[in-house]
Amino acid sequence: MLDKIKSLQEEINDFVSKNIDEIEQFRIKLLSKKGEIAALFTEFKNVPNEQKKEIGQKINLLKNSAFEKINSLKSQAQSKKSSSGVEDFTRPAESIPLGTRHPISIVRNEITEIFARLGFTTSTGPEIEDDWHVFSALNFPKEHPARDMQDTFFIEKDPDILLRTHTSSVQVRVMENQQPPIRTISPGRVFRNEAISARAHCIFHQVEGLYIDTDVSFADLKQALLYFAQEMFGKETKIRLRPSFFPFTEPSAEMDISCQLCGGKGCNVCKYTGWLEILGCGMVDPNVLESCNIDNEKYTGFAFGMGIERIAMLKYQVKDLRLYFENDVRFLRQFKSAY
Ligand code: PHE
Repeated sequence: MLDKIKSLQEEINDFVSKNIDEIEQFRIKLLSKKGEIAALFTEFKNVPNEQKKEIGQKINLLKNSAFEKINSLKSQAQSKKSSSGVEDFTRPAESIPLGTRHPISIVRNEITEIFARLGFTTSTGPEIEDDWHVFSALNFPKEHPARDMQDTFFIEKDPDILLRTHTSSVQVRVMENQQPPIRTISPGRVFRNEAISARAHCIFHQVEGLYIDTDVSFADLKQALLYFAQEMFGKETKIRLRPSFFPFTEPSAEMDISCQLCGGKGCNVCKYTGWLEILGCGMVDPNVLESCNIDNEKYTGFAFGMGIERIAMLKYQVKDLRLYFENDVRFLRQFKSAY
């Protein structure tokens, strides 16, 4: 019996094959119920007691080595099968996992596209600004609360260097460098000293628009904003303008859109009013034009500004603004876009 074990062990050691069927035949020969190792176990009953320990161990070792050998040959044969041999050139390529754009970028790009169709260019400017471009040129009185440390992040005092609180500062730069007609929007990041909550953040994004030419009227403003609202939120969308105040526009208004969830009937998103506020707007104050060396007798203009987070929250029904800043991929992966 020891001889039999020894010769089987040699057979196992010597066996080589890359052919799955051959390996399987070898497995059946050795390890199946009627295989040679099973036969050894049957025979084992007749082994005298004093040899049982030694022979038992040898059969077990033999069985284990047969298992190992067959398994390793099989896995080699399988991996060979997929990585060598004739390449299949028609096989589709492995797909490359694509990232997604951030929802704020998606909405910003969409807003930019809509206004581009109306002939608006895009302009950008610095996030770190001076008092002139953020406040003074925009007709903010000296005592205006926005100039307070509580609302604005100052970097230096006298001369004041600060983080812009709106991208209207970019439009001041455009007006200083270009004569009308001007038709531009300025998307960008803005900073306000506010406590972070589901509805407010100290960093957020805006798109502000400016149109200056001869004979620009409030009716032009209304038409442009109606076009924007319907492109962004759907053809059924209605707009409503409510009187408001901004230092840089006169008259000023805030614009609401009809709630796209309830269609204006009233629901908890629009707080049962049927309307959602989305932006501020108005006719550019002649003082602003003068500050930027634009003839305010000859030219008039309109301006508007909106928060991108606000638009994105309404578009995607996201209730907590903070999700846009946390960059949790489980949240971000849900946004797919052509923009
Ligand atoms: N700049 C204003 C803001 O930050 C928005 C606005 C822009 C309002 C232009 C009227 C006209 O809120």
